[in-house]
Amino acid sequence: MLSRLIPLILLVLVAERAISVPLTDASAVTSAAASAVSASLGGFTFVNKGLVGFGLIPSDFLESTGDTIGGIGSAIAVKRGTWTPQSDGTFTGRLVVHPDRGFNVDGTVDYQARRHEISFTLAPYTDTANLNFSLAQETFKLSYVNTTLEVERGGTKTSGLDPAAIRAAQSGFPAVPTADPQMPIASLVEPHLTLDIEGIALNADGSYWLSDEYGPYIYRFDAGGHIIQTIQPPAAILPVISGSVNFTSLVDPDTGRAGNQGFEGLTIDPLTNTLYAMLQSATIQDGGDDQSTSFFTRLLAYNIASPLTSAPLIGEWVVPLPQSSSGNTEACSEIHFLGNGTFLALSRDGKGRGGSSNKSSYKQADLFSIVGATDIHGTKFDLAANPIASKGKLVKGITAATYMSFVNFLDSTQLARFGLHNGSPDDETLIDAKWESLALAPVGDPVFPDDYFLITASDNDFLSTHGVSLGVPFDAGIDVDNQFLVFRLTLPSVPRGSVQTSIGI
Ligand SMILES: *[C@@H]1O[C@H](CO)[C@@H](O)[C@H](O)[C@H]1NC(C)=O
Ligand SMILES: *[C@@H]1O[C@H](CO)[C@@H](O)[C@H](O)[C@H]1NC(C)=O
Ligand SMILES: *[C@@H]1O[C@H](CO)[C@@H](O)[C@H](O)[C@H]1NC(C)=O
Ligand SMILES: *[C@@H]1O[C@H](CO)[C@@H](O)[C@H](O)[C@H]1NC(C)=O
Ligand SMILES: *[C@@H]1O[C@H](CO)[C@@H](O)[C@H](O)[C@H]1NC(C)=O
Repeated sequence: MLSRLIPLILLVLVAERAISVPLTDASAVTSAAASAVSASLGGFTFVNKGLVGFGLIPSDFLESTGDTIGGIGSAIAVKRGTWTPQSDGTFTGRLVVHPDRGFNVDGTVDYQARRHEISFTLAPYTDTANLNFSLAQETFKLSYVNTTLEVERGGTKTSGLDPAAIRAAQSGFPAVPTADPQMPIASLVEPHLTLDIEGIALNADGSYWLSDEYGPYIYRFDAGGHIIQTIQPPAAILPVISGSVNFTSLVDPDTGRAGNQGFEGLTIDPLTNTLYAMLQSATIQDGGDDQSTSFFTRLLAYNIASPLTSAPLIGEWVVPLPQSSSGNTEACSEIHFLGNGTFLALSRDGKGRGGSSNKSSYKQADLFSIVGATDIHGTKFDLAANPIASKGKLVKGITAATYMSFVNFLDSTQLARFGLHNGSPDDETLIDAKWESLALAPVGDPVFPDDYFLITASDNDFLSTHGVSLGVPFDAGIDVDNQFLVFRLTLPSVPRGSVQTSIGI
């Protein structure tokens, strides 16, 4: 039933900013599956060959600690050495996934950070015929493996509670966000480090980086899930209220990252040992206090060649995010490095299944390039007193990154091939609201050596009518599955061999 990869020679659509324009000849569409969409940036032509896989983890799935697995699409990565092409044309492997801060519809909870492993089989579907929703799930089959709970120094558990307090800097670690020691929680013998994890990047030695929204900080964990390093951002990004650093996410600070708009994006350039982190939208001083002015966000680069000695900030650039027709910022939930100063950026609205309305108008894996953009690190813009884009107006003399429309998740023809849709009705086949993660794996097709699968997953916010949070049952009033989509893309900027294979790099 599910045919293997067949050449995709199709109607070519040209992507210009947010609009795709059909070139001409509709008769060029034969029996092929997808309409290819191309975008040119930095001398490369990138191609979206369409959706080839769909899968889900059900909203009520319980992981090994007994909690609802929830929110796993906040951050995903393909585990090194697991991606394996099979002789029948399928691909198997394992994802490392990371939820954010637990079920928090009724306020934040004392949720210990944890990563999960999920194995998968991808059977790329490239025909034009529409599969029904149950058959579509055969194209990307997911199976839960296990869970690792994460701890900080001394084996102390972390928390998902709002960081109402701060622990002062000590023994090589900067001051960090902590839960309020006054809160009447029995387990809270000391104020625990609080994490709201949104990005993951894996190292060759089994250690891994996580980015968070509370700090917004970047943490390095060893393979066993213990924090071994903490990176604090520049002063311009640290949240400050009434003259003091204050990490609460309940109110926007006076300067620094806006509440719940931290380091959503995290990615590594393995060839240069550079770790990149990007804010979801502008800092408060750069227009981040209003969705109509929050589109100039910041991308930071750290040198992680010898991370335990230091991970110095080596670059910072301004990235212009897309805007909706009403002028609101389509904030960015993830980035992925593509080589040559080029990145994928997952920018979107909050509409769709589990979101603010049924019909979404923007969910895209776009492209941006920092080639030719101004590096502002080490300048006055490191300080909050010097905005780069007060009220959304970019300071003269700063050249922002070049941003370009690319993969549209909402293409109705593509969604229909997998039994999915955008807009009413609000049921399990409605595309999820909050897509937040990106991972790449090589297709390994000798005819198309620059082709990769792009895997993306949604964060369902733990929304289940049969949920369990910290061992206590809850009913969130709706069942939102954790959805996964897989696209086939041509990405010529990616240095060949730099994306991990079954041999691993
Ligand atoms: C989906 O399609 C397959 C093949 O046509 C069919 O056997 C199956 O019953 C359908 N499932 C649903 C839920 O409609
Ligand atoms: C999860 O499974 C992987 C692969 O079997 C294993 O390496 C890892 O130690 C397991 N982790 C836990 C916490 O069981
Ligand atoms: C942070 O700001 C909030 C809101 O203004 C306030 O309630 C809280 O006490 C502040 N926390 C610290 C540690 O100053
Ligand atoms: C891309 O980067 C590689 C090195 O990483 C370099 O060899 C190549 O010339 C670059 N290509 C372009 C078009 O800049
Ligand atoms: C979403 O779809 C449902 C039907 O499934 C409908 O009852 C509801 O009114 C729709 N919501 C909006 C905002 O259109």
